[in-house]
Amino acid sequence: MTLLSTRAMTKNFAGLTAVNAVDFDLPKGEIRALIGPNGAGKTTFVSLLCGRIEPTSGTVEFDGADISHLPAHKRINLGMAYTFQITSVFARLSVFENVALAARKRVHGTAQVAQAVHAALDQVDLNDRAEQIAGDLSYGHQRLLEIAMGLVQRPRLLILDEPTQGLTDSEIDAFKALVRGLKDTTTILLIEHNMSVVMETADRITVLNFGEILAEGTPTEIHADARVQAAYLGTG
Ligand SMILES: Nc1ncnc2c1ncn2[C@@H]1O[C@H](COP(=O)(O)OP(=O)(O)OP(=O)(O)O)[C@@H](O)[C@H]1O
Ligand SMILES: [Mg+2]
Repeated sequence: MTLLSTRAMTKNFAGLTAVNAVDFDLPKGEIRALIGPNGAGKTTFVSLLCGRIEPTSGTVEFDGADISHLPAHKRINLGMAYTFQITSVFARLSVFENVALAARKRVHGTAQVAQAVHAALDQVDLNDRAEQIAGDLSYGHQRLLEIAMGLVQRPRLLILDEPTQGLTDSEIDAFKALVRGLKDTTTILLIEHNMSVVMETADRITVLNFGEILAEGTPTEIHADARVQAAYLGTG
């Protein structure tokens, strides 16, 4: 069963085709990594999925419905959650309040919200920082806070754009375990440059290069793919 698919998804920016006629299918329950060189179009592609930017042409379906013309907030209501490459936490609010804002999209009542917030903070191991001001957290912890803000919505599809950037090695290990633990409940699309995270968490990998899908396959297949080696892995 396919949860998300695009057909001929294209985005032009003044003279540059950032995403070029991409046909993409993500089965329900899969952990998919999206990799590729800097500027390949990964962030642009997921921005199109989320409705943060308008496609030049092409369509996107979520759970069998054409959502190509739905605004971002309606896509969130359908069960899409995402964290972006640029952190977007509310810097002056506490860690708790940041997650509570996201939680209130799903649950109501002070006790229920608090319970949901602490459960999500537990998943990313930030509960002991719940009362800290978000802007005072390290960059890595702000990324984890953003993931908690996504998780608390219990999304059906979680899109993460370079979530491990700025994390320490032990935090990256915890992140891998977190992603693997979500597998039964959440479909995940993960943009990631850290190849150990990709290889140890992804069921399948899509490689984007110059706005087009260069290859798709299991971690083993992608690792052995000579075109991927040349375009990306060899340079890393
Ligand atoms: N708003 C924009 N206006 C013009 N060009 C843009 C815009 N956003 C992205 N681009 C260009 O589109 C191309 C794809 O960029 P994108 O950010 O999607 O790549 P990426 O694969 O996410 O790269 P990275 O790994 O560095 O994050 C790049 O050439 C980029 O400069
Ligand atoms: Mg990017």
